[in-house]
Amino acid sequence: MLEVKGLSAGYHHLQILHELDLEVHEGEIVALVGANGAGKTTTLKTLSGLVRPTAGSITFGGDQAVGVRPSELVARGLVQVPEGRALFGPLTVEENLRMGLWTRRKEARASADLEEVFELFPILLERRKQLAETLSGGQQQMLAIGRALMTRPKLLMLDEPSTGLSPKLTWTVLDAVKTIRDRGVAVLLVEQNAAQALNLADRAYVLESGSIVLSGTGKELATDERVRKAYLGL
Ligand SMILES: Nc1ncnc2c1ncn2[C@@H]1O[C@H](COP(=O)(O)OP(=O)(O)OP(=O)(O)O)[C@@H](O)[C@H]1O
Ligand SMILES: [Mg+2]
Repeated sequence: MLEVKGLSAGYHHLQILHELDLEVHEGEIVALVGANGAGKTTTLKTLSGLVRPTAGSITFGGDQAVGVRPSELVARGLVQVPEGRALFGPLTVEENLRMGLWTRRKEARASADLEEVFELFPILLERRKQLAETLSGGQQQMLAIGRALMTRPKLLMLDEPSTGLSPKLTWTVLDAVKTIRDRGVAVLLVEQNAAQALNLADRAYVLESGSIVLSGTGKELATDERVRKAYLGL
């Protein structure tokens, strides 16, 4: 579904990503783990079309994605939930969710899509008339994911969805990621919390200083000695 080859990118003259190779197949959760500043967010921004690659290729569903506008990529099904969530604070939960419809031509199935989001996160149904800015951190994360789902993604990219959440809410969100995958949406999950991400992921990549240094199934990496030492504190 997503095929990345030799991808390099950065900011101004500062190169951050060095020749990344990465794939996400249909039906997979793929984790991208790495320390602070490793380049995880930069990777997602480059895949979303917000940062322009200096070398390499990105194909999505067989089509070239480099140089395509971010909004067009969203319409094609490549959708990122950004770090910090970027909600419309003064709008209600339901209004935020409906914002996810902008890439779609017909609202015909909007109510069915809303129902699917509310089924995934029942608290959002309870709070549908409440302003987004008054939600708790965990509820805001759910809303950001819900809004992304309203665009009908084929590949959903999540940037540290568990940041700032209690262990219990982290599980709620990561459980939802599994349900999303089981509904047929592939997921690229960026996490500093390597233990949980590797546990959940079908496959994973480890990013260090802008290079992929290890890849394998989630299980393989979770038991890899280097990963255990560097990322799991074991
Ligand atoms: N807009 C920018 N301009 C210049 N440098 C940037 C910019 N954004 C990020 N960087 C630099 O790029 C490097 C990678 O940052 P990035 O945000 O991709 O890391 P990350 O792996 O997501 O880290 P974190 O886990 O802290 O979110 C860092 O050294 C950072 O300082
Ligand atoms: Mg980041």
